[in-house]
Amino acid sequence: MIEAERGRISTVAISTALGPSGRGIFPYTLLPAYRRLLRVVRETGTAIFTKSATRFKRIGNFIAWNPLTWKYIRRLPDLGMLNAYGLTNQGVEACAREIKVAVDQGFRVIPNLYPEFAKGTELAIKDTLEALEIYRQILGPDFWALELNYSCPNSEEAIRENVAQGLKCSREVKGKFPDLFLIAKISICHPCEFAQELEKLGVDALHAINTIPYEILYPQKRSPLWRVGGGGVSGGPALAAALSYNTRLRKRVSLPLIMGCGVKNREDVQRYLDVGADAVSLCTLALRNPGEAAEIIVGFNG
Ligand SMILES: Cc1cc2nc3c(=O)[nH]c(=O)nc-3n(C[C@H](O)[C@H](O)[C@H](O)COP(=O)(O)O)c2cc1C
Repeated sequence: MIEAERGRISTVAISTALGPSGRGIFPYTLLPAYRRLLRVVRETGTAIFTKSATRFKRIGNFIAWNPLTWKYIRRLPDLGMLNAYGLTNQGVEACAREIKVAVDQGFRVIPNLYPEFAKGTELAIKDTLEALEIYRQILGPDFWALELNYSCPNSEEAIRENVAQGLKCSREVKGKFPDLFLIAKISICHPCEFAQELEKLGVDALHAINTIPYEILYPQKRSPLWRVGGGGVSGGPALAAALSYNTRLRKRVSLPLIMGCGVKNREDVQRYLDVGADAVSLCTLALRNPGEAAEIIVGFNG
């Protein structure tokens, strides 16, 4: 568990799998086990990281109402998933209003925002600061923490650029919103030095790691989603690499770490706690086996 001045993050947190508001994703909400998960999450005060919002509405690859785009989210063996969702969302204003409804219903929601660095660093930071102002106006005191999604592409050059952009963005956010509990969500592509620099400039916690780019996990194979960049692997197939990255990371930074990627059962949660996680996140499990996700939450947060 992470205790901060203005709020707390439960030992087990749900990441992305409850949608842009934290109240659940249609059509999963039709499943009784997923509805029970929502109930358990609310009753136990479990922390929810939302699906990423962007400053403005964005159409990515996956669009829920278009079956031709469903191929961008696939199942893999061992309770895994491969996705190239592509950040489809309604923009921060609409997402913040939905989060407000969730918070008023008793869900503990932490917004996740994706700074669109591809637009250029300055514009992306300007958009990010505007987005934060919108969260603050709509959520009021319930906007105590924010997760910034810095998970990056995986060419050397792109990583270098993304690191510089992430540091600049974090510095400006901390400067303008010093009371906000700022969480940076990082990728297996990031060197530990990135995490250390984030710690130095005052980021409050790290969330490691996001999905693993397909070609990093399977360098010999071509991703079935190669046309859209390869996609990211989550769930069981990602656990070993994610656990090893987090074990190394723990030795390099001392700020709170939300570890995750690959959790399939309570033993996996315990593995992350044993290597020094302050909290553990799960996403794919909540979609592939919501019953097990609910049991884990009752066990650790109940
Ligand atoms: C379909 C899908 C969509 C995702 N979308 C986002 C997102 O918008 N923002 C984000 O930060 N992470 C996103 N993630 C990553 C998850 O939050 C999580 O970090 C990752 O899947 C690893 O954890 P897991 O193995 O428990 O799923 C997504 C994951 C999946 C499977």
